[in-house]
Amino acid sequence: MSDRTSEIIRDYYGNQLAGQSALKTGACCSSEALPARQRAILDSIHPEVSSRFYGCGSPIPDDVEGLTVLDLGCGTGRDVFLVSALVGEAGRVIGVDMTPEQLAVGRAHQAGQARVFGHTASNVSFVEGRFEDLAALGIADASIDVVISNCALNLSIDKHRVFSEIHRVLKPGGELLFSDVFASRRLPPDVAADPLLIGECLGGALYVEDFRRLMRDVGWPDYRILRRQKVAIGHPYAELLVGPTVFWSMKVRALKVGGLEDACEDYGQVATYLGSLPDAPNAFLLDDHHTFITGKPMLVCGNTAALVGAGRFGRHFRVDGNRSTHFGTFDCSGAAPATTDAGGCCC
Ligand SMILES: C[S@@+](CC[C@H](N)C(=O)[O-])C[C@H]1O[C@@H](n2cnc3c(N)ncnc32)[C@H](O)[C@@H]1O
Repeated sequence: MSDRTSEIIRDYYGNQLAGQSALKTGACCSSEALPARQRAILDSIHPEVSSRFYGCGSPIPDDVEGLTVLDLGCGTGRDVFLVSALVGEAGRVIGVDMTPEQLAVGRAHQAGQARVFGHTASNVSFVEGRFEDLAALGIADASIDVVISNCALNLSIDKHRVFSEIHRVLKPGGELLFSDVFASRRLPPDVAADPLLIGECLGGALYVEDFRRLMRDVGWPDYRILRRQKVAIGHPYAELLVGPTVFWSMKVRALKVGGLEDACEDYGQVATYLGSLPDAPNAFLLDDHHTFITGKPMLVCGNTAALVGAGRFGRHFRVDGNRSTHFGTFDCSGAAPATTDAGGCCC
């Protein structure tokens, strides 16, 4: 990362922003609704932490009790603490951030939050450093169950390295779940380098097609969008700079499973959600076009069968069929139950 960009980011989050109300655009804001259990936990997080929340979504994973979760660009730790309550005493949450002032707020509340959640000791560690080099922070290969990040990865100027590192540290079957700002085009370099746009998570926002290429290159030819919402910038100078660019806040899920192909292929496989995820008794939303209704068999492409069957949600699904017979390309026009001749969709 260039020293100039690092300094802009550290100065912005360490000195300039004293809380959400100091944000100048609508990029680092979240309007995503949370499940009731998570809302109740949020209410018990100290206001000094939650008032400095600069996330653009809610990448809070389900079914994490006892797991190890890594939050990249954790800031003051709102999501770290929320997840620390969900993983419980047997689990662990590691928050990484490079701005010491942000981490200081989280650390100041670490013991207090553990008490509030009824933990005998804190299950949280705040680590100062850059998420481009997790090895330097002692995070070993295949040691993490779930990586989350909220409006932080856009700030990296070496995103290839960040996503390679995420892939390296995840266990087989592990999940990357993150919310971030994406753009409809590559910004002109002088616009992308504007300090206000950098700080507000717009200058570094990835062009969606470059993100697809990057993910393919690091080993994720298939990832899923769970939510996409247009960003209302609401700042005349920033709007002038970005011109016709459209920005979206997107929530993305990638599972570290083998055998993913770069398109939907039909092997006649059927997946059935068992209804056993704690926060999703009636239906599981894999992505914005796969809602698995509990107990209802659904025709799926080879990738979706691999994601739900071999990823960390595998014990919550029954997958019938294998890849022994290929029936051609999979119809991605819309997810449908197995009793019709239409199929699921993953593109
Ligand atoms: C928009 S804030 C979001 C913070 C937090 N996720 C939240 O939701 O409140 C982005 C955070 O990413 C951190 N950050 C930016 N680039 C980083 C990098 N390369 N390595 C580690 N942290 C970084 C910044 O210090 C800042 O705290």
